Parts: sequence; C-alpha cells; structure tokens
Amino acid sequence: MTIHPIAEKILFSLKSCTDYISGEQLSNQLSISRCAIWKHIQELRNLGYLIEAVPHLGYRIIKTPDRLLSYEIKWKLPAKIMGKKIYYFDTAASTMDIAYNLAKENSPEGTVVVAEFQTKARGRFNRPWLCWRYKGIYFSFILRPKIHPNRSAIFSLLTAVALVEAINNVTQIYTEVKWPNDIILEGKKLAGILTELEAEMEQTHFMVIGVGINVNNLSHQLVEKAISLRQYKKENIDRVELMRQILIKLEEHYLLFKQKGADFILYKWRMHSNTLGKMVKIIQNNTTITGIAVDVDNDGNLLLRRETGLIERINAGDLIYCD
Ligand code: BTN
Repeated sequence: MTIHPIAEKILFSLKSCTDYISGEQLSNQLSISRCAIWKHIQELRNLGYLIEAVPHLGYRIIKTPDRLLSYEIKWKLPAKIMGKKIYYFDTAASTMDIAYNLAKENSPEGTVVVAEFQTKARGRFNRPWLCWRYKGIYFSFILRPKIHPNRSAIFSLLTAVALVEAINNVTQIYTEVKWPNDIILEGKKLAGILTELEAEMEQTHFMVIGVGINVNNLSHQLVEKAISLRQYKKENIDRVELMRQILIKLEEHYLLFKQKGADFILYKWRMHSNTLGKMVKIIQNNTTITGIAVDVDNDGNLLLRRETGLIERINAGDLIYCD
C-alpha cells in the first residue's frame, strides 16, 4: 500500500509537530493549495489516521492506525541499509517469495517486505507458520553478504540477537535464543527465523531472512507451545515501534559484522543463549544425535560433545532439549 508523496510529507509534518499545524502553514511548506492539503488529509483519514481539524488552529494527529505501514516504520528510522525500501502488504502469500523475487530483480540489500497476513507463510522445513492479522510482525529482508554459503548460519544468530535486543528495548522483556533460530520466552516460542539463500558453490548471491513474531496475539491466536509478548506483558505492544527498533538493531549488528567479523555477534548470542550447557537431541532427516551443546563456532554451527567425548559440528536440524 502506498500513499501520495504529498500525503506522506503532510503526515511527517503533522507527526513532528506536537501542536496544531494550520492549513496555511502546510500549504506554504509544500507549495500547494489549502484545498489540496484538505484532500490529502482525507486520504490519510481513509487510511485510519484520526486527524482533528479545528477552525483557526489547524490540524493535529490524534491517533495513528495500528498498521505496519512503510511510512510509519520509516518515521525517524536512521536507515543506511535496513529499511531504506519497505514494501507493505495487507495480505501476501509469503513475504519470503516476494523478497526473493525482489532480490532477483536486484533490489538492494536491506529491502524489507512486511505483511499483516500471509496465506502461505512457511517456517523451517516447510512447516506452516500461523499468522494472525494485525497481531504479529511478519517480514522478510534481503542481505547480500560476500560470504561462503557455509557461513550463512551466522545470519540466523545475528538476527536472533537483534530481535532479543529490540524486544528488550521496547518492552523491557528479556527473551532467550534457542539454537539455531528460535526466540524463547518462558520456555515457549515467541518468534522464529527462516534463512534462505541463493548461492553458487563458493559464493552467496543473496539471502532472504524471514522473521515471524507473536506480538499482540491472544492465546487462541497461537499454536501450542507458543507465546506472545501481549500474553506475558498483559498489555498491547506498539508493533510499529518494535519493528523500527528491530531494523535499527539489524542494521547495527550487520554493519558490525561487516567491519569486525562475527566475534561480537557470537559473544552476544552466547550471552542470550538458553541452549549452551544443555543436553540436547538434534534431529536431522531420520537420524538423531545426542550430546551436550558446548558452544557455537565462528560460522554459527553448534558444537555438540557426544558421549564419546568427541565434538561434533552441527549446521542444521531440529533441536530438542532432553529433560
Ligand atoms: C520458524 O521458526 O520455523 C521460522 C518461521 C518464519 C516465519 C516468517 S513470517 C515472515 C516470513 N514469511 C514466511 O513465509 N515465513 C517467514
């Protein structure tokens, strides 16, 4: 969904003003008639903005819609990479496929695709992912790191760290990461990360990383063993603010990775991990490997100490905690 560029400018002027702003001021600022201003104000109202108009005073925003609209997310977003381009859909099949096609058409890295609802949302191993319209945050983004495809797991970890920090900044809730890609709250799944890549033998062309977070879902709007931020906090969370914070954190960590490598990401991931030190089972296709999760390596692979004492490097699979 897009709005007229003038409507976007009016919106930003209204948002940056704590008081009323007159039609005359807006018309001078934007060099258009007051009648045109009024038309764009109507456009914004139709999108769900509650805009008060008081004679002799002007316009003032009373309420913004609870929608992950691109221009809402971009408001005060200091994006160099992440979120410079944001595509918003009320309904999409899967943001993964839209982002993949955009990447194929050379959309820059940091391009974000957000959807309020997906009809074919997928999780890891092609499992379905439950979406609830206007309750969760569902998005995919494009990265073009110059790395060997074997190193791609590090970006799941990077995304997980960004999510934990963003959630904590906005809600003061402390969440944990479960290798390789789950965000856990009170032992239940709060968010998942899906990483897909287009690569040759030695070179990654691009990656599409998808994130699904249960934000304001009520209990009947969640699958078993899942939790939402609302359930924990007992109040609604500002989804736009959380989305903006996630993009800020993703950018911060991605730039850090490009400049300094993976060390800092790994340090933070270990700090937030609820996997390390535990006896776990890894299920890969039809085989199960058991051991103690002792660490992650530089590429984000899990290091498992088997009963024999040997350390095994795991790069994919389903992880289950042994009681
Ligand atoms: C998992 O835990 O298995 C990963 C879940 C990823 C879900 C997100 S929602 C946005 C993006 N679009 C999809 O179809 N999947 C990811």
